[in-house]
Amino acid sequence: MSYRTHMGGDLRAEHEGARVTVAGWVARRRDHGGLVFVDLRDQAGLVQLVFNPEDQPEAHAGAHQLRAEFVVQAEGVVRRRAPETVNPRLATGEIEIHVERLDLLNTAPVLPFQLDDDGVDETLRLHHRYLDLRRDTMRHNVRVRFALTRTIRRYLEERGFWELETPILYKSTPEGAREFLVPTSTHPGRFYALPQSPQTYKQLYVISGFERYYQIARCFRDEATRADRTAEFTQLDIEMAFVEPDELHDLMEGLFQTVWRDVAGIDLEIPFPRLTHAEAVLRYGSDKPDTRFGCEIADVTDALRGTEFKAFRGVVDSGGVVRGLAVPGALDFSRKDFDGLVEFAKTWGGKGVAWLQLQGGEIRSPIAKFLAADELDAIAAGVGAKEGDTILLVADAEDAAVRVLGPLRLHLGERLGLIQEGWNFLWVTGFPMFEWLPDENRWKASHNPFSAPEPEDEADFEERPREARARQYDLVLNGNEVGGGSIRNHRAEVQGRIFAMLGMSEEEAEAKFSFLLRALRMGAPPHGGIAFGIDRLAMLLAGAESLRDVTAFPKGQGGVDPLTGAPTPASPAELRQYGIRVVAESGKDANV
Ligand code: AMO
Repeated sequence: MSYRTHMGGDLRAEHEGARVTVAGWVARRRDHGGLVFVDLRDQAGLVQLVFNPEDQPEAHAGAHQLRAEFVVQAEGVVRRRAPETVNPRLATGEIEIHVERLDLLNTAPVLPFQLDDDGVDETLRLHHRYLDLRRDTMRHNVRVRFALTRTIRRYLEERGFWELETPILYKSTPEGAREFLVPTSTHPGRFYALPQSPQTYKQLYVISGFERYYQIARCFRDEATRADRTAEFTQLDIEMAFVEPDELHDLMEGLFQTVWRDVAGIDLEIPFPRLTHAEAVLRYGSDKPDTRFGCEIADVTDALRGTEFKAFRGVVDSGGVVRGLAVPGALDFSRKDFDGLVEFAKTWGGKGVAWLQLQGGEIRSPIAKFLAADELDAIAAGVGAKEGDTILLVADAEDAAVRVLGPLRLHLGERLGLIQEGWNFLWVTGFPMFEWLPDENRWKASHNPFSAPEPEDEADFEERPREARARQYDLVLNGNEVGGGSIRNHRAEVQGRIFAMLGMSEEEAEAKFSFLLRALRMGAPPHGGIAFGIDRLAMLLAGAESLRDVTAFPKGQGGVDPLTGAPTPASPAELRQYGIRVVAESGKDANV
């Protein structure tokens, strides 16, 4: 015999009169002058059970004992509710089940928290995640994530992509973050790495002739958890042979249009706008600009080359910039508020912020008296300020100014309520190939070392590493980097030159990447790809605040799993098998 004839949450008015058996969890019990009502929850939703003491005394007596999260099976007849008791907020709200037989399948103790309470401490929620996941918001989030990956699979498979797997026990590859190492008792003292992404293997797939690869792939980076970053996350990973960026972008725009329509019922406009990296950094102080509001940054350095104002002049003369932005309002900001902005700038490594307010045809500002009228006019015109606006200016070395202005713009956008609801996708292209790491005195690949240079930079990127651009692109949504990828190096010679630029000797490159270099030499086609953060997309689609809220079983603070307590120490016997000696903080070997 099966546990049920129907999912309770699927029952509708058309089932009136049917005899059904349902099973699920008790979401709520209400006693009403003799009648007992129980909301029964199953995967499909809620349905109301009614227990009548006169018709079915035994079932009614059983219902009296029910408490939240007891597991039951109930058999009865579907009846239409009286018109005044119809619940329009519930899909099953027109009907109820008049129960004739009730079976208690399991009980639950007094719960550690109420499922309808939204203010429960997160650690407690994670500790009892199986309860937490029964809450409406979490069920919604898990469902959104499932709908997202389902739509992705359908869309890609209809377009000839194959879902292909890559190993989890990986070889170390440099992609910026620190790796998780995995010891093996077969080779004590040697380690696999967990993949930071399936990058090299997906390239090997297309080199092998699987021209349209995709994978919903687990990735691991041994780094601190933040709201938008976790150590273990999921990517939609894509790679294609014989592809140019425009073709890939078109396909991906179609994908996002389909996902947003199917999952959220929203029509996205395509094509998405494209912005070069240089423009994004200049206009928004960020390589992942939030374009849901204006307040664009403008450079007013030229207007201040001859200024008498020492603070600006010093910066300009030493090759720095003066940049700023205008925000509407903020006229009631007090001295303290502006001091707060100065402090904010300092936390981002800046020296400070100057401000000017355009009110009643005048400019109010502690620095106005140091600036000539034409300089003030040029600043206002440069940042596009109007009557009633407040202008904020930062004078610093270019990098430092960008570092401060981007966050400052976002901070003011939020504080002044300027951010419009919406889905602002945009592509950022034309990234620099390399980034200089002054502390380490070396170049680093700004994305990953497999990205190809732009054709015009291929011949001489070694001579112009600062200007050379990679064929790399990021997809940004409302200020979040949701994806990134590139056209790859398909010729071993160029790939080898890039490794050399990154400070790898030929021997080192061969030792680390001989498998890739060999593959590139054996008929590798031109290819490229991209990867999107599934967790980030699910978070944005579900309207959740953190990646943890769209991850069924996330790690908590410090990477600890509050459910299982992982990571846990290994026993001395296990450590011996792996040939590992753990040095405790005291400096003593932990396994002696
Ligand atoms: P990248 O490192 O940019 O590219 O990652 C691609 C996308 O994955 C998401 N993401 C993360 N999400 C949660 N937590 C993290 N720690 C995390 N790190 C990245 C982001 C990001 O845009 N191999 C390349 C892809 C390629 O070139 O095809 C790569 O992994 O949304």
